[in-house]
Amino acid sequence: MIVLGIETSCDETAAAVVDDARRIHANVVLSQIAEHRPYGGVVPEIAARAHVEQIDGLIQQAMAEAELNFTDLDGIAATAGPGLIGGVMVGLVTGKAIAAATGKPLLAINHLEGHALTPRLTDDLPFPYLLLLVSGGHCQLVLIEGLGQYRRLGTTIDDAVGEAFDKVAKMLGLDYPGGPAVQAAAEKGDPGGINLPRPMAGREGCDFSFSGLKTAVRRLLDNNEGLRKEDVAAAFQLAVGDVMVDRAGNGIEIAQGFHANLSHLVIAGGVAANTHLRQRLTSLCQERGLSLIAPPPGLCTDNGAMIAWAGVERLSAGLYDPLDIEARARWPLDPDAKPAPFAGKKA
Ligand code: KG4
Ligand code: ZN
Repeated sequence: MIVLGIETSCDETAAAVVDDARRIHANVVLSQIAEHRPYGGVVPEIAARAHVEQIDGLIQQAMAEAELNFTDLDGIAATAGPGLIGGVMVGLVTGKAIAAATGKPLLAINHLEGHALTPRLTDDLPFPYLLLLVSGGHCQLVLIEGLGQYRRLGTTIDDAVGEAFDKVAKMLGLDYPGGPAVQAAAEKGDPGGINLPRPMAGREGCDFSFSGLKTAVRRLLDNNEGLRKEDVAAAFQLAVGDVMVDRAGNGIEIAQGFHANLSHLVIAGGVAANTHLRQRLTSLCQERGLSLIAPPPGLCTDNGAMIAWAGVERLSAGLYDPLDIEARARWPLDPDAKPAPFAGKKA
């Protein structure tokens, strides 16, 4: 079984071809960072236009790399949400067109499900496992119990963690996207002597909050001249690490209440590339007798392979979709999750 995956929900235009033996035949990703850099963040209209301009060529490139024709495919998977609606529509309509032209089944994929199932592609991981999804748009702990069985244990009540990295980078005069720049600065800094809050740490449950930490950095910079940006970055990264360890620690306990045999914590999303965070979570897992799984960075950030793989899993289960299915800006992975007072821009 072989599936084409299309991803256009944020600022990466991506197409990939993946089979049910977990082989990635092609995986092309085009980042729009250069287009958005002058604005210091993703501009939805620019993103949608760039997806329109790039998606056809990118799909052709993926099919050529895989040395396949559309008729060789068993299914067409496209992200149907959540995300920036203009971009989601571009990818979904393209997927529908290929499905209609070839008569192959359409798989309308939840982008978050793509991230959630990635460790099954990279590591053949069995259910259940606990997922910490940390990106520019999301910050969630989700218990992955089976295909389509997702129990959200915690989420952010305000900003996503990647958003906090990006905003702190901007305050420090660092380049966009901020995560890698903050990490590089932090590695040259000393967090000692700078006190920042650890929002939500010590509290029950495993929800997150980052807006207070971001404001604290702003206040720190306004009230103290001559602070080294490397030291501020290090203090910020340390605070994020402390919060993540606290929240993920609670998440593991809650997850073990559902599945006493829980053996893996998975991190995904762009922030999962952060080496400090990886170290901290590796230690946490060692303490709790769990293994940490971190897909390779290229499969942690947005990509088409994760969408193609989710398509393979859904097609194997006979779960394909009608051609009139609609794109969704918001689409929670766990429809039963109590709505968090989420004020972020993306779902
Ligand atoms: O998953 P992703 O590529 O896109 C979505 O947001 O869906 O994640 C991008 C986010 C950005 O906020 C970026 O600053 C952050 O991931 N990021 C990092 C690192 N690399 C990327 N944050 C912290 N440390 C990093 N090394
Ligand atoms: Zn994503």
